Amino acid sequence: MFEAFEKLPDDPILGLSVSYKKDTNPKKVDLGVGVYRDEKGTTPVFGAVKRAESIKLANESTKTYTGIEGDTVFCEQIQGLVLGKDHTSLRDGRSCAIAAPGGSGALRVAAEVINSWRPGAELWVSKPTWPNHIPLLGTAGLTMKEYPYYDDQGHSIRNDLMLEQVSRLGKNDVLLLHACCHNPTGADLSLAEWREISRLAQKNGFIPFVDFAYQGLGKGLEQDAEGLRHLAASVPEVLIAYSCSKNFGLYRERVGGLIITTGKKATTDAVWSHMKQVARRLYSVPPAHGAMIVGMILADPELSKSWATELDGMCNRINSMRALFTDRMKKKGPKHDFNFIKSQYGMFSMLGLSVEQVERLRNEFSVYMVNSSRVNIAGISADNIDYLTDSINAVL
Ligand code: LMR
Repeated sequence: MFEAFEKLPDDPILGLSVSYKKDTNPKKVDLGVGVYRDEKGTTPVFGAVKRAESIKLANESTKTYTGIEGDTVFCEQIQGLVLGKDHTSLRDGRSCAIAAPGGSGALRVAAEVINSWRPGAELWVSKPTWPNHIPLLGTAGLTMKEYPYYDDQGHSIRNDLMLEQVSRLGKNDVLLLHACCHNPTGADLSLAEWREISRLAQKNGFIPFVDFAYQGLGKGLEQDAEGLRHLAASVPEVLIAYSCSKNFGLYRERVGGLIITTGKKATTDAVWSHMKQVARRLYSVPPAHGAMIVGMILADPELSKSWATELDGMCNRINSMRALFTDRMKKKGPKHDFNFIKSQYGMFSMLGLSVEQVERLRNEFSVYMVNSSRVNIAGISADNIDYLTDSINAVL
């Protein structure tokens, strides 16, 4: 059998980390995979996570299976964090959740649930979107379609084209949105755009499906959820794939959740049974360690406060690196306008370079970014800013 296999190319994002590690240039800069880094370039474990882990270690009395839905405290707490504790769908029992192996696991379960509702249903993703969305969701059987989203020249959302396409979606369509910190562009929907999309979903009946992987890293915990909360309050049926990789720093623990809201409690109960059936068929039960840590943090006011403060610090650092990059580029290469970097949110922005320029940066300067010229802003620091901006200038 295996004789028939040919070696595949490296993953366009995770493969960069492998090449970066092998690179011996002491000046190398990693702006590839979306992982938070502090000023020293490290990805620290949150203090709140460390404390919750030591409490868990001291008190845990069994490692037996959780239910298929995963840790129940996590499932309850995550709905409050995402929707807001007094959200109408929570009050009315119209929302349900399962824990999943990372945001990716949640996305895949959602895709399978959609596909069992309507095999081959059309799922619309923004152009561009996280590159793994297409294989991850498409291989569940869905038909992947793209809606216009980002204007590469203007470095902003193509509002009119996007809304025109969205207005043509109907009852057989599912629309994937990024709750905040759009990956790869950093260009987020305004509240007015969320309202308009909510209105169109109500009117035309398409189903919104929201990928929420960066809560707290854009404008702040509450503000990053604002658009999604409005949508979930106006449209009865919404799917939300959530990731705790970045905002709890739990990348390798694989912590995510799938939340679904419906129009009435009985429907939600039925949907929850389908989510669990899909999970059982795919991976049986989700990993529990990280989900329990998140559940413990969110259920404890003190841990929760400490976590939110650390997260705020990360968010502020990213925003200050956006400003630093823009200002330094202005000084070094005044012909090229990078002001848009300052008005975008989250870990990512696209510099607007060609693949050739990105390759030159990698091969000649050991500066690593995704071929689309997506950069991880958290990889920028006071230590590498001059080398980075000089290198970019050299290829411009
Ligand atoms: C990214 O976009 O860099 C992250 O979401 C990590 C990944 O799995 O691609």
